[in-house]
Parts: sequence; C-alpha cells; structure tokens
Amino acid sequence: MLIVDVLTIFPDMFIGPFNESIIKKGQEKGLLKINITDIRDFSVDKHKKVDDYPYGGGPGMVMKPEPVFNAVESIIVKYEDIKPSERYVILMTPQGELFNQERAMELSRKRHLIVICGHYEGVDERIRQFLVDKEISIGDYVLTGGEIPAMVLIDCVARLVPGVLGEASSIEEESFSHGRLEYPHYTRPEIYKGYKVPEVLHSGNHKLISEWRSFESIKRTIIKRPDLLSSYPLSDIEQDLISRLEFNTTKDKKS
Ligand code: ADE
Repeated sequence: MLIVDVLTIFPDMFIGPFNESIIKKGQEKGLLKINITDIRDFSVDKHKKVDDYPYGGGPGMVMKPEPVFNAVESIIVKYEDIKPSERYVILMTPQGELFNQERAMELSRKRHLIVICGHYEGVDERIRQFLVDKEISIGDYVLTGGEIPAMVLIDCVARLVPGVLGEASSIEEESFSHGRLEYPHYTRPEIYKGYKVPEVLHSGNHKLISEWRSFESIKRTIIKRPDLLSSYPLSDIEQDLISRLEFNTTKDKKS
C-alpha cells in the first residue's frame, strides 16, 4: 500500500479529484491511502496564521516554518513501522526538479509520501533545508499554489502502484515508458466517415501487428518528441525496423 499525506491550506480542493474513478477505487481496494491535513490546524498562533512578512522586506508573504514542521512531525510519528528510507517528504514548488514518468515510478516504490503544497511568495527556507527530501515542479510555469501540482503528482504516482490499474501490462506499453510515445489505437467501426483502420490490425498476424506498433511508436516519437531520443537513442532493433518498413512522415489525421 502507498500512503500519501497531503499538507495544504486548502483541504477542500482535494475533495473531488481523489474521490472519483481509479484513485477512488485504489483506496477502496486498500492499495492507496490518501490523507489530507490542513496546515492551519498546526499553527502556533491564536489567529491560526500560517504566513508572515519576509525578513529583509520585499513583496508577498512567506509560509511560516512551525505549522509545516509540526504537521510533518505529527504525521511521521503515526507510522512507526515506516523507515525514513521508505518515505519522501516532498515540497511542490516551481523551483523543484521537473516531474516526469521516471520520477513517478521512483516515487511509486516508496511506502509513504508526504506532499507539502507551497504557497505565497514561497516557504521559509528552513523547510526546504531541514524538512524536505525532494522539491518537485510539474513544469516551467507558475500556478497559484502547490495544490494542483500535488494532485498531478499523486494521480500519476498512484496509478503506478501495482493493482491500482486493472492491467499491469498497460503501464509497460504506455507513452513515455522506455522513452517512446504510445502507438495509435483504433476501435470499431472499421470505417468511419470514410477513414479506415489500418489493415494490419485485422490481419490476425500478431508478429506483424507488434512490429507495426513498435514502428508507429518510434515514428510518433521522432515526429512529435524528438527530444526523447537523446535520453533513449534508437536501439539496433528499432533502426532495423525503420529501414525495413516505410517511414511516412505525413501528420496523422485526427480521429
Ligand atoms: N507551485 C506553483 N507552480 C508550481 C509548479 N509549476 N510546480 C509545482 N509547484 C508549483
């Protein structure tokens, strides 16, 4: 089971996304446990303040250290059986390392994730330095807070936990696994508005179908995301496929 504790000043934002579909089922199956904690409950201030002015002046407010440290520490003591090496304390921030499928897989192998949603101008630097193991960004753009990034990260990691998705094999074949985009999919009808399903897919020849899929997957990657090839260069088998099959670079029709 993967346990995820989210620390936020907007707990209600999480009501919808984690109570629908696959993430909901994952929790019902006992494979995921997602807890939402309101950082404000750990404020040491009588007005429940969680932010304050920056030392040295300047615009905006800074998230205070005490409520965040207190919240994280109160969560950690609840799970005595989880070793520090089985846990990551993560801060969602645009300054973090860029999230991707590989990082999601790494996180899915932990037993416990504590995800802090950053806010305001930023968090007190001592949170980064002395509490957090990993700072993660979901992309080079700035959102109003870490809540939506936390949802993105948790959704992506949760579906990699064994059993959360019905079929384990679909994770192996999906986009970004092994640095390739996924091959095209088709379903009935065979002809729609005059557009046909490629013949090979109803040939019944599994070897040909598998070759066609690999080829289309490479082709898509080269056309749409050539940057992926620098981390995952073409293998000898893939080069051979390209030289054997026709490489047609016309853009795929939208279906
Ligand atoms: N908070 C604001 N923007 C963010 C981003 N891009 N990634 C993670 N946390 C954020």
